[in-house]
Amino acid sequence: MVSLETTLAGIPLKTCVYNASGPRSGNSSALAKVAASRSGAILAKSATVSSQNGNPQPRTWHSPDDKASMNSEGLPNNGIDYYIESSTIEETLAGCKEGSTKPYMVSISGKTLDDNLAMLDKINTSPANIPLVELNLACPNVIGKPIIAYDFDQLKMILKTIQSKKYKVKLGLKLPPYLDSKHLSQAAAIINEYSSMVSYVASINTIGNALSVDPVSEAPFISSNNGLAGLSGPAVKYTALANVRQMREQLDKSIDVVGVGGIESGTDVFLFLLCGATAVQVGTCHWKEGATCFDRICNELETILQEKGYSSVQDVIGQLKPWS
Ligand code: DOR
Repeated sequence: MVSLETTLAGIPLKTCVYNASGPRSGNSSALAKVAASRSGAILAKSATVSSQNGNPQPRTWHSPDDKASMNSEGLPNNGIDYYIESSTIEETLAGCKEGSTKPYMVSISGKTLDDNLAMLDKINTSPANIPLVELNLACPNVIGKPIIAYDFDQLKMILKTIQSKKYKVKLGLKLPPYLDSKHLSQAAAIINEYSSMVSYVASINTIGNALSVDPVSEAPFISSNNGLAGLSGPAVKYTALANVRQMREQLDKSIDVVGVGGIESGTDVFLFLLCGATAVQVGTCHWKEGATCFDRICNELETILQEKGYSSVQDVIGQLKPWS
């Protein structure tokens, strides 16, 4: 039997595969399905201070060949209070197989730093057991707002301010894709300055501001933001792998790297592990297939590890070989 166990920020996970914040993670009934699957953890949809409906419809699109998806959701969510309420967490964890549980984590994506601080204050003082918070610094779909982690001065200021608050909750950062290695190095260097606070980075969020055009209507498929939307699915996998690989090489070893972007099979997970991910998140595939994707992907990962003679994902993490 092979082991898919890993740790994320020191927290043990039964499998190294879990859901990305985003699709099918907005309420407790969707999250309970993740709980019922082989997903190693449960991560809620990025929250804002108050509930909101997001951008106008239509705001999602899948390419006819299924290789690319786009969304301009605009963070529809139930507000932070909902995600840290004990009833939400209980309903979610009720999905876990009898006698078992798994880590429940929240994601926050405030419109301002003050919003993020207000949400972190609430999480920090909440009686709920939330071991890890993912700070989303990479949403491309808030109209009129930049992708935060592309603005290095703002990134520094945010991390410095949060560090000064000395929250007890552990923090992960959801990062955008860096397409220039120099930019990635700059981001990694800033994050390394806060290695006592940042316990993981998740690379990558969607590739921001893509455009899909309908040849019939001769207009964008997506209505909001001039049709601009975050690109996801298999088309972004190679960018995600490159970001994971470079982040693993450049980040302090105390910071875990979580791979996310286009993962839809056990083989995909295997590639991200080789590139240094200690765990992976699945977003678009979960959106298209539902929570049973976690069972299928974990089963496939077990098969590929077995075939290759590995007994544990721990034997694979970061073992990418040089070209030969
Ligand atoms: O592509 C994305 N869509 N990334 C996010 O971080 C948020 C989401 C949305 O709600 O727009």
